[in-house]
This record gives sequence, C-alpha cells and structure tokens, in this order.
Amino acid sequence: MTKIINKKLKNSSRHWIDRQINDRFVKRAQTEGLRSRSAFKLIELNDKYKFLKNDINLVDLGSAPGGWLQVATKIVKKGKIVGIDIKPIEKVKEVEFILGDFLDELNQKKINLFFNKKVDVVMSDMASNTTGNKDTDSYRTGELCLNAITFAQKMLQEEGFFISKFFMGSVFNEIENSAKKIFKDVVKFKPRSSRKKSPELFIICKNLK
Ligand SMILES: C[S@@+](CC[C@H](N)C(=O)[O-])C[C@H]1O[C@@H](n2cnc3c(N)ncnc32)[C@H](O)[C@@H]1O
Repeated sequence: MTKIINKKLKNSSRHWIDRQINDRFVKRAQTEGLRSRSAFKLIELNDKYKFLKNDINLVDLGSAPGGWLQVATKIVKKGKIVGIDIKPIEKVKEVEFILGDFLDELNQKKINLFFNKKVDVVMSDMASNTTGNKDTDSYRTGELCLNAITFAQKMLQEEGFFISKFFMGSVFNEIENSAKKIFKDVVKFKPRSSRKKSPELFIICKNLK
C-alpha cells in the first residue's frame, strides 16, 4: 500500500515538475520577447551543435510565428536568411520571408535563386497539423522532414548542417536511412525544452557524402 501511494506521489510530482519546466519556457518566451517557446529548442540545438555563426547563409523551413528566425538573426549578422511558411509572420528584420508551401517546387526554386549559391544551414521545424493519431502525425511530419532532406542535399555546401524536427514513429527508420545516405554525420537529439510527452525529436546532420 505504502509503495502504491509513494508511486502515485512520485508520478504526480514528476508531472508537476514537467509542467513547471514547460511553463517556464512559455513564460521565458514572453518575457524575452520571443514569438514561440520553440525558440528555446533552437537555442539548445545550437548550444550543442554550434551551427549558427555570424556569416552563414541559412534557410528556415516552417518559420511561423518566427521564434527560430529571431534566434538566428541574433547570431547571423553578415549572412543571409530566408524563411518560408504557409502561414504569414510579422516581419523579422534582415529576413527574406516567403509565404507559401515549401513542398511547392516553385518556392524551392525561389529560395535557390535568392542565394544563387550553396548555403551553410538548412533547418526545419515544420510540422503538419496534428490529428491526435500518433501514426498519422508522425507520418505526415516525417514526409516534410524527408522532403527537407532532399532539398538540403541540393542546397548545402559540403560541410553544411541540416537540422530537422520529426515525430518518433515508424517513419524514423526511413528518415535515418535517407539522412545516412546523404550525410557523413547523423545524430538525433531531444532538447529539454521539448515537452517530455511529445514524440518530437530533432535530427542533426553534417557533412555531405
Ligand atoms: C512548430 S511550427 C514552427 C515554429 C517556428 N520554428 C518558430 O519558432 O516560431 C511549424 C510550422 O510549420 C509550418 N508548415 C507545415 N507544413 C509546411 C509546408 N508544407 N510549408 C511551409 N511551412 C509548413 C506550419 O505552418 C507551422 O507554422
């Protein structure tokens, strides 16, 4: 009996701590003027893998409402940044924003033409609207990630970085296999600011084969 009560207490306190941690990111985003709590995921990813630099050219896929762009523009001062989303965003200074579907080839051409040379980083926080069905959500966001990998292969310079969100599920093997065919270094990472209960993870790829 004692054991059961303790277990319950442990579970409830764990949930409480989780909620507090996650609320902390929402509050921090508000106080720091960041448009999304996702911004902290990019900060953590960059602290660990150090891909944002002063003079890089960078593509941000699935930019709305613009939290990742805000983080990127604080570091990238000399390079160019392009963001794209099907949803409009409030202007972010020094960013070229394309309102449209990344899957539309014309939009991919627009990005290519804008830089007219290889870029250093392609990052994607794209996610399809969630349905509540884990497999469907993982599959749909996985498709976005797979398309982003193909795009990154065309856009990146040899030592470039590709970072992308995906939802863990049956599609992961396909994502990992595709990434490993194209990049020398492939790892996955879950930032602390990503909700523990969420199947969200990020794949970080570097150095084209
Ligand atoms: C989690 S949000 C991105 C949050 C953003 N990184 C930030 O920090 O503000 C995911 C975004 O992906 C976008 N998205 C989904 N499918 C897309 C597509 N095919 N083309 C462009 N954007 C897409 C959604 O509209 C949504 O705004």
